[in-house]
Amino acid sequence: MGIPKIHPPITNASGPLSVTEEELHALGRSGAGAVVTKSMTHCPREGNPEPRLAPRINHDVGSINSMGLNNLGYKRYAELVPALKQHGKPVIASVSYAPCGHDLPLEEQYLVIAQALEEAGADMLEINLSTPNLTGIPIATDPENVRRVMEPLKRAIRIPMSVKMPPYNNSLALFEEVASLLVELEVDAVVTMNSEPNALDIDLKTRTKLIRPRGGYGGLGGPAILPIALGEVHRFYRYFRDRGAEIPVWGCGGIATPEDAVKHFLAGASAVQVGTALLWEGPGIFERLWGGVERWLREHGFSSVEEIIGTVRDA
Ligand code: SIN
Repeated sequence: MGIPKIHPPITNASGPLSVTEEELHALGRSGAGAVVTKSMTHCPREGNPEPRLAPRINHDVGSINSMGLNNLGYKRYAELVPALKQHGKPVIASVSYAPCGHDLPLEEQYLVIAQALEEAGADMLEINLSTPNLTGIPIATDPENVRRVMEPLKRAIRIPMSVKMPPYNNSLALFEEVASLLVELEVDAVVTMNSEPNALDIDLKTRTKLIRPRGGYGGLGGPAILPIALGEVHRFYRYFRDRGAEIPVWGCGGIATPEDAVKHFLAGASAVQVGTALLWEGPGIFERLWGGVERWLREHGFSSVEEIIGTVRDA
């Protein structure tokens, strides 16, 4: 089964404004090309203690969060899928893992959730292997974990599955290992990247850390991470292209303006996701971004995003 058409190729990133029923319907009514749920876990979770989100840090360069996978639990999201599909756009269920009061192992939790969401009618799954906020070490920094989670899913699930990855900019050897595994596993798409792990910021007036969980460390998102995200997108795009692997790359990280989205497309993204700026601006952002991307394309003599994907030139 092929990847559903995402039009416009701009969606929310799983997380901001995608937890509750109301938030998900607001995304359904918005100009986003799909609805992506908050990453769901086997048990409902309240998440980490407050304060756990600094939405605007240091001259608005971004946000830091350590939400701790606050979500309604997979059973509730499965119930919501049929109504969400009425908005006439793909519903992408983000699937994640957190320890939860029973001893169902990592890969079985992913599998149970994925099967339930497939049965509920989700159009696609985004397998989140990259949250930095439980231990500080995203699951996909260990290739064995990627295999352990994805092999059972590939055997059992028929709808398309993307994988959401952490940044690999500080370990290119690890990047190569994981990217080659994703080719072997024939994943349907790669979403790169989750927030930059283990960031910290300080309120100078009170001399306190901005968030409380995990000693004040959380995931950095927003404009500050745009260049890192572009690097990740381009690296995955080139890796797959050079090996003839037809795995689309979806860019996530740092998009607040139409030009940011265009940079992602030039670097190799075939769709993009918006997190921090969605938090800042609300679901109206999708129309603004897409309107600006269409304008940029027209002004530069292009008639579609497809014409510019991966066409960045060397300096
Ligand atoms: C969180 O809920 O802590 C963020 C989830 C993620 O970054 O994957």
